[in-house]
Amino acid sequence: MDALFASPAGALREVILSPGADAAGFRAAVRALVAEGLPPERVIWSTGAPGLFDAPPMAPHAAPAFSLPRAVTELIGLVLCHGDPERHGLLYRLIWRTVKDERALIDNPADPLVHRLMRMAKAVRRDIHKMHAFVRFRSAGMVQGRERFLAWFEPEHFIVEAVAGFFVKRFPAMDWSILTPHGSLSWDGTSLVIGPPALRPALPEGDGFEEGWLSYYESTFNPARTNTAMMTKEMPKKYWANLPEAKLIPGLVQSAASRVDAMIAREASAPRKRDPRKAVEAMSEQAPGTLEELNRLMRDTPPFVTGGTRAVLGEGPAGAPLALVGEQPGDQEDVEGRPFVGPAGRLLMKALGEAGLSREQLYLTNAVKHFKYVQRGKRRLHQSPTSGEVKHYRWWLKQELDFVQPRLVVALGASAALALAGHPVSVTRARGPMKFEGRPGYVTTHPSYLLRLPDPAAQNAAYAQFVADLKAAAERAAG
Ligand code: URA
Repeated sequence: MDALFASPAGALREVILSPGADAAGFRAAVRALVAEGLPPERVIWSTGAPGLFDAPPMAPHAAPAFSLPRAVTELIGLVLCHGDPERHGLLYRLIWRTVKDERALIDNPADPLVHRLMRMAKAVRRDIHKMHAFVRFRSAGMVQGRERFLAWFEPEHFIVEAVAGFFVKRFPAMDWSILTPHGSLSWDGTSLVIGPPALRPALPEGDGFEEGWLSYYESTFNPARTNTAMMTKEMPKKYWANLPEAKLIPGLVQSAASRVDAMIAREASAPRKRDPRKAVEAMSEQAPGTLEELNRLMRDTPPFVTGGTRAVLGEGPAGAPLALVGEQPGDQEDVEGRPFVGPAGRLLMKALGEAGLSREQLYLTNAVKHFKYVQRGKRRLHQSPTSGEVKHYRWWLKQELDFVQPRLVVALGASAALALAGHPVSVTRARGPMKFEGRPGYVTTHPSYLLRLPDPAAQNAAYAQFVADLKAAAERAAG
């Protein structure tokens, strides 16, 4: 991070920055150079550890700041991550010309300097996109009672810090480290540590997490959209070594044509409209003898909602005194294959903690077992299930609760109450104890309702009421 000015007064000035992006060091150096009026041709940029006789680091705020157009600062942020050793010199030339007399330089993509920097920014953006898409975690075992996940990735550029926010947001409930030759990231559920470059670790081959990912990949692979040229462009071969799904691709591509034929044949013989009653009748003929068998059936049953990928099954000990039923898994639950691990789940865990309960004591499940969503660009937008869809999944929920045998079932929100009661229930009116077809139950709000309340005061009041409900339900289950 240090910008060191090593040469005495003279024709050339050397600036040594830390290896990597070193945005703070670059910023401090540029401020000082512009304040001194040193043109780009008199500055030599390099990276590395400072020498014994180099001048002490420059204080970041010693020189006055100056303003740059936003497009320039954004470009600087990206280009600093580029692996090209000339990046600092090129950027300083852009900054110098912009502050001197070419304020609109950035708007001229035909300028060779701007053109080159834009190409570099594009390469960095692409590298970031690839890292978002192709990091794969493997379990590295238990550390202090929590499972730890490791991933190895080799980005082309210095993008480790630039991608940190994405992975924290995507996997907030997991303990993970991402190791790269340019630096590492470690997250423990609360804090992020940006560490030094790493060597490729010996990662264990295939684990539960990887198996889950492989079955997810297999189930979302659409044979009708198989386009090998596009796939190779999107997933270049150099990433394959770290991608467990790469080994599935040749087989999936090979079988694509026959799977498409089978899909067409199935489509032709399927009834035009899915009738939930028919589907339930067909399922009722199955008689799973254990919760595991029921779950296996659920896993093999195609989603009944649009967008659904894999079934997110209930979790918790059979015989748990209290079962909590939500609406449906969200984006994160679908990725991790576990209920209540996304934002609403985290709020629920906090409220449970305040009610004196913990996740491990409870059975957690959902009325609808698949994530219903519509794709909007890269985002998967949650869609509420219709009452027909909730009813379609009722058979599973009933069976599941029959195996778990909780003393009390909490319905989190209206969809869960509909699934448990078999008819629409107004949460506002029914809030509190209620029998669900003879099963002792309790109705309360869904945690995502609390997240959606815009006013913090209303949110606090609703949260306190939610915690009180969970406490009351727990007391009833204990009694
Ligand atoms: N919301 C739910 O209802 N269930 C989940 O598992 C997550 C969010």
